Amino acid sequence: MFDLTGKTALVTGAGQGVGAGIARMLAAQGAKVAVNDLRAVRAMETVQTIVAAGGRAMTAVFDVADHAAVAENVARLEAVLGPFDILVNNAGIPEGMGIQPFRESTPESWRPYIDVNLYGVLNCCHAVINGMASRRFGRIVTISSGAGMVGLALGVSPYAAGKGGGISFMRHLALENAGAGVTANTVALGLIDNQRTPETTAHLAKGVPVGRLGLPEDVGALCVYLASNESSWMTGQTLQINGGSVTS
Ligand SMILES: NC(=O)c1ccc[n+]([C@@H]2O[C@H](COP(=O)([O-])OP(=O)(O)OC[C@H]3O[C@@H](n4cnc5c(N)ncnc54)[C@H](O)[C@@H]3O)[C@@H](O)[C@H]2O)c1
Repeated sequence: MFDLTGKTALVTGAGQGVGAGIARMLAAQGAKVAVNDLRAVRAMETVQTIVAAGGRAMTAVFDVADHAAVAENVARLEAVLGPFDILVNNAGIPEGMGIQPFRESTPESWRPYIDVNLYGVLNCCHAVINGMASRRFGRIVTISSGAGMVGLALGVSPYAAGKGGGISFMRHLALENAGAGVTANTVALGLIDNQRTPETTAHLAKGVPVGRLGLPEDVGALCVYLASNESSWMTGQTLQINGGSVTS
């Protein structure tokens, strides 16, 4: 079950953190993986890890916020790897994310959150959707955040706008393509153990009912299911994975 042999996947923002975990797990189940990141060194590190474990992967260095670059690179990658069966929109801007009440913000400060977290999702979906629909098979997963689903007084409202927009977009994409063999689902994450100090991790873990922060592999395991043949009846959904921090 959940064998991805023969499938080709594009995972964005997969040079580190959650995306790297998703790429490793899709490759471990047999998928050929295009490892996208803005930073070439990071993408290469993920590819090396996958190849060292016996998997197949290649780097895909481009900016998901640039529609033309996405279209060009998807066409180039498909010519080498074969058409994409699986797209995981993971690239986002948590890195260096500012905490700023909206009243103190400027339009310039909002733009990256919308460009990457929302336009990035639309650009990548646009590049693969017609091919997937014409082949009558596709699996699209967008990585979102609990911040896109509930209000928080944390000073992350532009990030939440991008992430929440992605959730809404995916619901419509799912229904427009439900008869074409393409599923589209969103995974809304709680706090992940990524790039934090041990003290911060331990402090944040106290607020998680399961008693720990999430790991990239926790998210990767769900993405393997959502990318599989077996998930064909699962579409248009937003799945929360957060150690019980938020229930619905
Ligand atoms: N870490 C968390 O606690 C958490 C919580 C909720 C949701 N998320 C979401 O999970 C996803 C991954 O988070 P992470 O913590 O692994 O992030 P991260 O910052 O560690 O990694 C993101 C990667 O995306 C790349 N990237 C950024 N902008 C890009 C662009 N325009 N084009 C291509 N690549 C780009 C970065 O270079 C980086 O390697 C994001 O969408 C984030 O919003 C994370």
